Amino acid sequence: MNQTLVAFFSQSGNTRQMAEKIAKMANADCYEIVPQTPYTGSYAAVMDQSKKEIGERYCPPLAGTLPDVSGYDTVLLGTPNWWNTIAPPLATFLKSVDLSGKTVAVFCTHGGGGSGRIERAIKALCPNARYLPALSIYGDTVRDEEIHNWLDELSAYHDV
Ligand SMILES: Cc1cc2nc3c(=O)[nH]c(=O)nc-3n(C[C@H](O)[C@H](O)[C@H](O)COP(=O)(O)O)c2cc1C
Repeated sequence: MNQTLVAFFSQSGNTRQMAEKIAKMANADCYEIVPQTPYTGSYAAVMDQSKKEIGERYCPPLAGTLPDVSGYDTVLLGTPNWWNTIAPPLATFLKSVDLSGKTVAVFCTHGGGGSGRIERAIKALCPNARYLPALSIYGDTVRDEEIHNWLDELSAYHDV
Protein backbone atom coordinates (compact mmCIF):
# COMPACT_ATOMS: atom_id res chain seq x y z
CA MET A 1 0.00 0.00 0.00
CA ASN A 2 1.29 3.44 -0.92
CA GLN A 3 -0.14 6.09 1.33
CA THR A 4 0.80 9.73 0.92
CA LEU A 5 0.28 12.67 3.25
CA VAL A 6 0.56 16.30 2.19
CA ALA A 7 1.38 18.48 5.25
CA PHE A 8 1.76 22.22 4.79
CA PHE A 9 1.74 25.64 6.40
CA SER A 10 0.46 28.68 4.56
CA GLN A 11 0.00 32.21 5.80
CA SER A 12 -1.50 34.05 2.84
CA GLY A 13 -2.85 31.11 0.82
CA ASN A 14 -0.29 30.48 -1.93
CA THR A 15 1.17 27.33 -0.38
CA ARG A 16 -2.36 26.17 0.54
CA GLN A 17 -3.43 26.46 -3.08
CA MET A 18 -0.38 24.45 -4.16
CA ALA A 19 -0.90 21.85 -1.40
CA GLU A 20 -4.53 21.32 -2.30
CA LYS A 21 -3.66 20.79 -5.96
CA ILE A 22 -0.93 18.32 -5.01
CA ALA A 23 -3.20 16.39 -2.64
CA LYS A 24 -5.94 16.18 -5.25
CA MET A 25 -3.63 15.08 -8.06
CA ALA A 26 -1.73 12.60 -5.85
CA ASN A 27 -4.92 11.32 -4.25
CA ALA A 28 -3.27 12.05 -0.89
CA ASP A 29 -4.54 13.09 2.52
CA CYS A 30 -3.96 16.75 3.29
CA TYR A 31 -3.10 18.26 6.69
CA GLU A 32 -2.81 22.00 7.27
CA ILE A 33 -0.30 23.01 9.96
CA VAL A 34 -1.99 25.81 11.92
CA PRO A 35 -0.27 27.76 14.70
CA GLN A 36 -2.32 28.46 17.84
CA THR A 37 -1.71 32.16 17.25
CA PRO A 38 -2.08 32.99 13.56
CA TYR A 39 0.24 35.47 11.86
CA THR A 40 -2.38 38.13 11.31
CA GLY A 41 -0.57 41.47 11.68
CA SER A 42 0.50 43.81 8.90
CA TYR A 43 3.06 42.55 6.39
CA ALA A 44 5.77 44.46 8.26
CA ALA A 45 4.64 43.02 11.61
CA VAL A 46 4.69 39.47 10.25
CA MET A 47 8.12 40.09 8.74
CA ASP A 48 9.44 41.32 12.12
CA GLN A 49 7.81 38.57 14.16
CA SER A 50 8.96 35.77 11.87
CA LYS A 51 12.50 37.13 11.65
CA LYS A 52 12.70 37.09 15.43
CA GLU A 53 11.19 33.59 15.70
CA ILE A 54 13.52 32.17 13.08
CA GLY A 55 16.53 33.81 14.71
CA GLU A 56 15.59 32.32 18.05
CA ARG A 57 14.63 28.95 16.54
CA TYR A 58 11.27 29.41 18.20
CA CYS A 59 8.70 26.69 17.53
CA PRO A 60 5.20 28.13 17.92
CA PRO A 61 2.61 25.78 19.45
CA LEU A 62 0.19 24.32 16.94
CA ALA A 63 -3.59 24.26 17.01
CA GLY A 64 -5.57 21.05 16.64
CA THR A 65 -4.41 17.47 16.66
CA LEU A 66 -1.33 16.19 14.87
CA PRO A 67 -1.90 13.55 12.20
CA ASP A 68 -0.87 9.97 12.89
CA VAL A 69 1.93 9.71 10.36
CA SER A 70 2.69 6.05 11.04
CA GLY A 71 0.44 4.86 8.22
CA TYR A 72 2.07 7.01 5.51
CA ASP A 73 5.16 5.98 3.62
CA THR A 74 5.46 9.26 1.71
CA VAL A 75 5.09 12.76 3.15
CA LEU A 76 5.07 15.89 0.98
CA LEU A 77 5.99 18.93 3.08
CA GLY A 78 4.99 22.46 2.06
CA THR A 79 5.98 25.88 3.38
CA PRO A 80 6.32 29.43 2.13
CA ASN A 81 9.88 30.68 1.88
CA TRP A 82 10.24 32.90 4.95
CA TRP A 83 13.57 34.65 5.25
CA ASN A 84 15.08 32.10 2.91
CA THR A 85 14.07 29.20 5.16
CA ILE A 86 11.01 27.35 6.50
CA ALA A 87 8.20 29.08 8.39
CA PRO A 88 8.38 28.33 12.15
CA PRO A 89 5.13 26.31 12.32
CA LEU A 90 6.70 23.72 10.00
CA ALA A 91 9.64 23.47 12.41
CA THR A 92 7.18 22.73 15.24
CA PHE A 93 5.52 20.08 13.09
CA LEU A 94 8.81 18.41 12.22
CA LYS A 95 9.82 18.30 15.88
CA SER A 96 6.46 16.77 16.80
CA VAL A 97 6.18 13.90 14.32
CA ASP A 98 8.64 11.17 13.41
CA LEU A 99 9.29 10.95 9.69
CA SER A 100 12.30 8.61 10.04
CA GLY A 101 12.44 6.05 7.29
CA LYS A 102 9.78 7.77 5.21
CA THR A 103 10.11 9.18 1.72
CA VAL A 104 9.87 12.97 1.88
CA ALA A 105 9.62 15.62 -0.83
CA VAL A 106 9.47 19.33 -0.16
CA PHE A 107 7.44 21.99 -1.95
CA CYS A 108 7.36 25.72 -1.39
CA THR A 109 6.10 29.01 -2.70
CA HIS A 110 8.33 32.07 -2.70
CA GLY A 111 8.61 35.70 -3.69
CA GLY A 112 11.62 35.33 -5.97
CA GLY A 113 14.13 33.54 -3.76
CA GLY A 114 13.21 30.01 -4.83
CA SER A 115 13.60 27.34 -2.19
CA GLY A 116 16.57 29.06 -0.53
CA ARG A 117 17.76 27.00 2.43
CA ILE A 118 14.39 25.31 2.93
CA GLU A 119 15.50 21.78 2.10
CA ARG A 120 18.60 22.13 4.24
CA ALA A 121 16.49 23.30 7.19
CA ILE A 122 14.06 20.41 6.82
CA LYS A 123 16.85 17.84 6.49
CA ALA A 124 18.46 19.18 9.65
CA LEU A 125 15.22 18.71 11.61
CA CYS A 126 14.40 15.37 10.05
CA PRO A 127 17.66 13.72 8.99
CA ASN A 128 16.51 10.12 8.74
CA ALA A 129 14.13 10.39 5.82
CA ARG A 130 14.77 9.69 2.15
CA TYR A 131 14.50 12.93 0.17
CA LEU A 132 13.21 13.26 -3.37
CA PRO A 133 13.50 16.40 -5.57
CA ALA A 134 11.74 19.54 -4.36
CA LEU A 135 9.36 21.84 -6.23
CA SER A 136 9.32 25.60 -5.73
CA ILE A 137 6.76 27.93 -7.28
CA TYR A 138 6.64 31.72 -7.46
CA GLY A 139 3.76 33.18 -5.45
CA ASP A 140 0.36 31.98 -6.63
CA THR A 141 1.41 31.03 -10.15
CA VAL A 142 1.22 27.24 -9.77
CA ARG A 143 -0.10 25.38 -12.82
CA ASP A 144 -1.54 21.85 -12.84
CA GLU A 145 1.07 20.79 -15.39
CA GLU A 146 3.95 21.63 -13.04
CA ILE A 147 2.41 19.56 -10.26
CA HIS A 148 1.69 16.74 -12.66
CA ASN A 149 5.29 16.66 -13.91
CA TRP A 150 6.67 16.77 -10.38
CA LEU A 151 4.45 13.93 -9.19
CA ASP A 152 5.52 11.92 -12.23
CA GLU A 153 9.14 12.55 -11.33
CA LEU A 154 8.53 11.45 -7.74
CA SER A 155 6.75 8.29 -8.73
CA ALA A 156 9.62 7.36 -11.04
CA TYR A 157 11.99 7.49 -8.05
CA HIS A 158 9.54 5.60 -5.95
CA ASP A 159 9.48 2.60 -8.20
CA VAL A 160 13.26 2.16 -8.05
C1 LIG B 1 7.53 36.82 6.72
C2 LIG B 1 7.81 36.61 5.25
C3 LIG B 1 9.10 36.39 4.81
C4 LIG B 1 9.35 36.15 3.46
N1 LIG B 1 10.64 35.90 3.06
C5 LIG B 1 10.87 35.59 1.75
C6 LIG B 1 12.19 35.27 1.32
O1 LIG B 1 13.16 35.27 2.08
N2 LIG B 1 12.36 34.94 0.01
C7 LIG B 1 11.31 34.90 -0.88
O2 LIG B 1 11.52 34.56 -2.03
N3 LIG B 1 10.05 35.21 -0.47
C8 LIG B 1 9.80 35.55 0.81
N4 LIG B 1 8.52 35.84 1.21
C9 LIG B 1 7.41 35.74 0.23
C10 LIG B 1 6.64 34.42 0.40
O3 LIG B 1 7.52 33.30 0.33
C11 LIG B 1 5.57 34.24 -0.68
O4 LIG B 1 4.71 35.34 -0.70
C12 LIG B 1 4.77 32.95 -0.45
O5 LIG B 1 4.13 32.57 -1.63
C13 LIG B 1 3.75 33.08 0.66
O6 LIG B 1 3.13 31.83 0.86
P1 LIG B 1 1.72 31.68 1.59
O7 LIG B 1 0.70 32.47 0.80
O8 LIG B 1 1.43 30.20 1.53
O9 LIG B 1 1.86 32.18 2.98
C14 LIG B 1 8.27 36.13 2.54
C15 LIG B 1 6.98 36.40 2.99
C16 LIG B 1 6.73 36.64 4.33
C17 LIG B 1 5.33 36.93 4.80
